[in-house]
Amino acid sequence: MKMLIKSMPNNTLLFIIALIVTTVAFTVTTTVTTGIAFANNDGLSKERIIELANLLEQDCGSCHGSLLDGSLGPSLLPEALQGKTKEFIKKTILDGRPNTAMPPWRPLLSEADVDWLATRL
Ligand code: HEC
Repeated sequence: MKMLIKSMPNNTLLFIIALIVTTVAFTVTTTVTTGIAFANNDGLSKERIIELANLLEQDCGSCHGSLLDGSLGPSLLPEALQGKTKEFIKKTILDGRPNTAMPPWRPLLSEADVDWLATRL
């Protein structure tokens, strides 16, 4: 090994060290960021979380605005939901609001799905 390292030109050795450092840094960053993105998921799979994020944008967004900042349905941005409890938001999503356009999602979504949505809002 020593012989091998000695026989390498300095530049090659530096290049190999840089490559190792970059790979380690990349692996650590990706692990940490995906960990955060998929944390607090109540055991939902990554695939389900991606489906729910799409549902929020496409289905909920069709009434609440594509940026969830309000349209036919009210804004779902953090400022608008401030002071409303997670339980209240979950109940609204699961059972809808009778006599309004807000439909019940219970037939399509599990408790864990709604928990994720309510945490996300
Ligand atoms: C067909 C239109 C429509 C769709 C689709 C829809 N909503 Fe609504 N939503 C409404 C309306 C209208 C209200 C206001 C009801 C009222 O007047 O109390 C509402 C209210 C809410 C509220 C209560 C807001 C508050 O300030 O109290 C939440 C939370 C909510 N919707 C979440 C969702 C989520 C999450 C989805 C997707 C899973 C969704 N909505 C899909 C129409 C819709």
